[in-house]
Amino acid sequence: MPLTKPVWLNAADRRRQVHAPLDESAFFGYERIQAREKTERVVRHFNSVARVYDFMNSLLSFGIHHAWKREAVRMLELKPGERVLDVCGGTGDLAILAARRAGPRGAVVIYDINRAMITAGLPKVIGTALEGRIRHVQGDAEQIAFPDHSFDAVMVGFGIRNVTRMRRGFSEMCRVLKPGGRLLCLEFSRPVWPMFRWIYDLYSFYMMPYIGELVAGTRKAYTHLPESIRMFPLPDELSGMLRAAGFSRVDYRRFTNGIAVAHLAIKSK
Ligand SMILES: C[S@@+](CC[C@H](N)C(=O)[O-])C[C@H]1O[C@@H](n2cnc3c(N)ncnc32)[C@H](O)[C@@H]1O
Repeated sequence: MPLTKPVWLNAADRRRQVHAPLDESAFFGYERIQAREKTERVVRHFNSVARVYDFMNSLLSFGIHHAWKREAVRMLELKPGERVLDVCGGTGDLAILAARRAGPRGAVVIYDINRAMITAGLPKVIGTALEGRIRHVQGDAEQIAFPDHSFDAVMVGFGIRNVTRMRRGFSEMCRVLKPGGRLLCLEFSRPVWPMFRWIYDLYSFYMMPYIGELVAGTRKAYTHLPESIRMFPLPDELSGMLRAAGFSRVDYRRFTNGIAVAHLAIKSK
């Protein structure tokens, strides 16, 4: 399947990349690789951007990602004292918002496979009022290192796209949630209006890699980003995956014409 840019993957290919068994191929951006190599590639990818990750997010999204994250965490309706897990938590933006809402009796865990990303986010927590409320744990989303029914809420922001076996990742998130617990999945998606999508495609494929090279010193990482977004399940497909992983009520909300989408799912009681 030789891909030309920019292209949004069709439903069959999106399904194939979501369900890649480990002995088969997987997509890393538009590149087809051995599925068992994907996690290592993802770790290397985030090693190359960790230092500038927050800055680049704000630059490339014109700061809008902060509003998406705020709104998405608000959708979780966290209550004081709740325990929250931030899977693929990276530099901790969602965790920080959640910790403020869960209050001093609450606890939030940033769970990420990449040490460099965790380290890059530490200054946002250490020495602040949130220090005692946020913990950092390094680990794989496909094998979450917590017992069943440990959390009131689980979040995954712009991370599940990178997990080789997404369905496995969602099942793990479901497992560690208490019955009735809530999952928030915030991810990039396909803009709804064709004209807006056209402009977004041009920006993503011709501006983003250029800015990535100029500011972050890596064109490759910021070429992979728009490619991986175009391989990701559309909102209704993702809702189906969440139901298959053990969640009941699944709703979603589009932000900025669908550039980002927040899914809220409840674990069956
Ligand atoms: C795009 S960043 C998102 C960070 C943060 N959630 C945010 O919204 O800014 C994706 C994160 O997912 C992490 N990640 C990728 N694959 C993972 C896996 N299998 N298990 C745990 N974390 C993973 C990466 O290391 C990276 O920090």
